[in-house]
Amino acid sequence: MYPLRRNRRLRTSESIRSLVRETIISPNDFIVPLFIVEGRNVKEEIASMPGYYRYSLDLIEKEVKELWSLGLKSVLLFVKVPENLKDNAGKEAINPEGLMQRAIQTVKNAVPEMLVMTDVALDPYSQYGHDGIIADGKILNDDTTAVLSEMALSHAKAGADFVAPSDMMDGRIFEIRSLLEDEGFHDTGILSYSAKYASAFYGPFRDALDSAPVEAQNIPRDKKTYQMDPANREEAIRETLMDIDEGADIVMVKPGLCYLDIVRDIKDAVNVPVAVYQVSGEYAMIKAAAEKGWLDHDAVMLEQLTAIKRAGADMIASYFAKEAVKLIF
Ligand code: PBG
Repeated sequence: MYPLRRNRRLRTSESIRSLVRETIISPNDFIVPLFIVEGRNVKEEIASMPGYYRYSLDLIEKEVKELWSLGLKSVLLFVKVPENLKDNAGKEAINPEGLMQRAIQTVKNAVPEMLVMTDVALDPYSQYGHDGIIADGKILNDDTTAVLSEMALSHAKAGADFVAPSDMMDGRIFEIRSLLEDEGFHDTGILSYSAKYASAFYGPFRDALDSAPVEAQNIPRDKKTYQMDPANREEAIRETLMDIDEGADIVMVKPGLCYLDIVRDIKDAVNVPVAVYQVSGEYAMIKAAAEKGWLDHDAVMLEQLTAIKRAGADMIASYFAKEAVKLIF
């Protein structure tokens, strides 16, 4: 007799498929990255990220209200820092009147319930485009974490709910957590970019913020002395477990699609929520192929988001958030 089990029975119609579906994407899954610039009435498309924009503060209000109406309840803020404010020390990063600090207040005023997360790293503020302070041909670890913790504190004071250190210096989670506790910000969370790889997929993001590393003091134009080697797997677990010990509330793997094995490893190894960042290059690839008519944009977008969640992501930072939820609901 033919096998009693026919797996295709559970695929015969959309009704049964939806009943047995194991992974569902919903607005609750998303963190929406937002790029912010100085000025008024600015909405600039990012050349290598078609359909994605930098907004000035007056326009960000409308944008976050729209996100909220779509059920998107958390944003991750990035700022494009004017060239004349960049230095090697990250001075502007801790300016209480800085663009990030004003952006936090603007979003909170527009939609008080919106969860505001902020990028904590020096690269947008660095004249060299690096995530750390430079001296004698080196990226200085501990001098950098001291500034990062001040930066995180200044975001917390401005009203950030979560700070998201994306720099990959050693010990930064401990430094940030300690300072936040000392200053009474017990409820400010830390989403740590724990397993962040030295990936070539960040190119369009660096266009968005004009933050690509430049050749300086014999330091190469890459971030391989602090971000992880894409060849490594065990190191990702080590980094992540250390960040949890140091006080991270949520850990993150970045980029997404090429690193889904890491996502699953980490999901199995930890008992805190795991985030995944589907990065700018992943966004750009889908947009470019779809523009050429080579891929079905919406289907590929949803397939990738589903795959990221299936691999173990409890939440996804994605430039597709808005498009995806519009399609689903
Ligand atoms: C910088 C930072 C980067 C991204 C987030 N924070 C770029 C980098 O490390 O060079 C990349 C995000 C993306 O590509 O979408 N600290």
